Amino acid sequence: MTSPTHLLLRGRPSHLPRLLHRAQQSQKVVVVAAAAREQAYSPYIISSRRSISTSQPNPSSSLPRPIGTPILSLGPNHSRTMSTAPPSKDWSAAQYLLYTTERTRPVHDLIAQVRPHLTSHQAPVIYDLGCGPGNSTSALLSAFPGAQITGVDSSSDMLKKARKELPDVPFTQADVSSFSPDSSPDLLFSNAVFHWLRTPQRLATLTRLFSDLRPGGVLAFQMPDNYTEPSHTLMRTVALRKDTPWERYFSDTAVGELTDKQRPDLDPIEPASAYYNALSALGAVNLWRTTYSHVLTDAKAIVEWVKGSGLQPFLQRIGDEDARKAFLAKYEEALRGEYPVMADGRVLLQYPRLFVVAVRG
Ligand SMILES: C[S@@+](CC[C@H](N)C(=O)[O-])C[C@H]1O[C@@H](n2cnc3c(N)ncnc32)[C@H](O)[C@@H]1O
Repeated sequence: MTSPTHLLLRGRPSHLPRLLHRAQQSQKVVVVAAAAREQAYSPYIISSRRSISTSQPNPSSSLPRPIGTPILSLGPNHSRTMSTAPPSKDWSAAQYLLYTTERTRPVHDLIAQVRPHLTSHQAPVIYDLGCGPGNSTSALLSAFPGAQITGVDSSSDMLKKARKELPDVPFTQADVSSFSPDSSPDLLFSNAVFHWLRTPQRLATLTRLFSDLRPGGVLAFQMPDNYTEPSHTLMRTVALRKDTPWERYFSDTAVGELTDKQRPDLDPIEPASAYYNALSALGAVNLWRTTYSHVLTDAKAIVEWVKGSGLQPFLQRIGDEDARKAFLAKYEEALRGEYPVMADGRVLLQYPRLFVVAVRG
């Protein structure tokens, strides 16, 4: 039997604190329904555990909603649609995992190029840097069944999910920019993490980690290279629109200005040549860049995808729900202009990624 992705909790308005408490205990997307009248239940809150804990609704102002009016419309892509609710400063494992198959594909592609370097190891020591909810760790475990793998991540929510999924794997909370492994690793693996570091830290950290490897040790990483893709340029242009409900939330930062460290957009990654020049003095470097064409339902699905990653810092800034919804609607509208609909009604999310496998000399 498959476990439910949503929980529906029902009760009277006076039961709301208890319902919220139960919602907070749950990892699921939670639908809390409160009774407007004795027999009639109306959807009251649709939220994740994380957002409930960070933005408690005011029962008196929001109850009751018209019967049958959900706060969040569950559209045709509903199994992959989550709340617009924000934004703690942490990641959301649940949102990230909406596209786990697509997001994990580069993990497998990277492992395929790493595997020949680990054939002589029965029990390689592996660190999964930025392991997220454990999807990349799990793929590493399947590829190297005897391995001693440690997952490392800075996000509490991601680590909580990873520990639940892989209870026998040790996970450590740390920032990769200052992390050093306890044991001498055979493989430092990292999928979709280092583009989250600001430019001054990125190459410096990778070079430090690579230089600390023993001879024959492997550093393998993949980073999205989508700074100039419409999915990401449109985050910036929509954020910069004037006379909008969200304008004030970006007034203290220079969106798109690389000199502003507080801005919500990630730094573009360096060209492949920069990684080659930084690492090749220390070992053999193999690099490739490829563009995935992820097949998604529609532009809304692209929004849901980036809500689990690059759009987060934008949404975390927008402090009220209505402004956030307005921002998301404009962003989705802008995406529709850039991602043409295919013959079957779907869209292709173009996703360039840079891969590096470096073997320490
Ligand atoms: C896009 S997810 C990748 C998750 C997983 N590796 C995968 O293959 O899908 C990025 C992860 O990197 C983590 N992360 C970002 N910056 C980090 C940092 N400086 N130190 C440690 N983890 C970081 C985030 O918490 C998140 O879990």
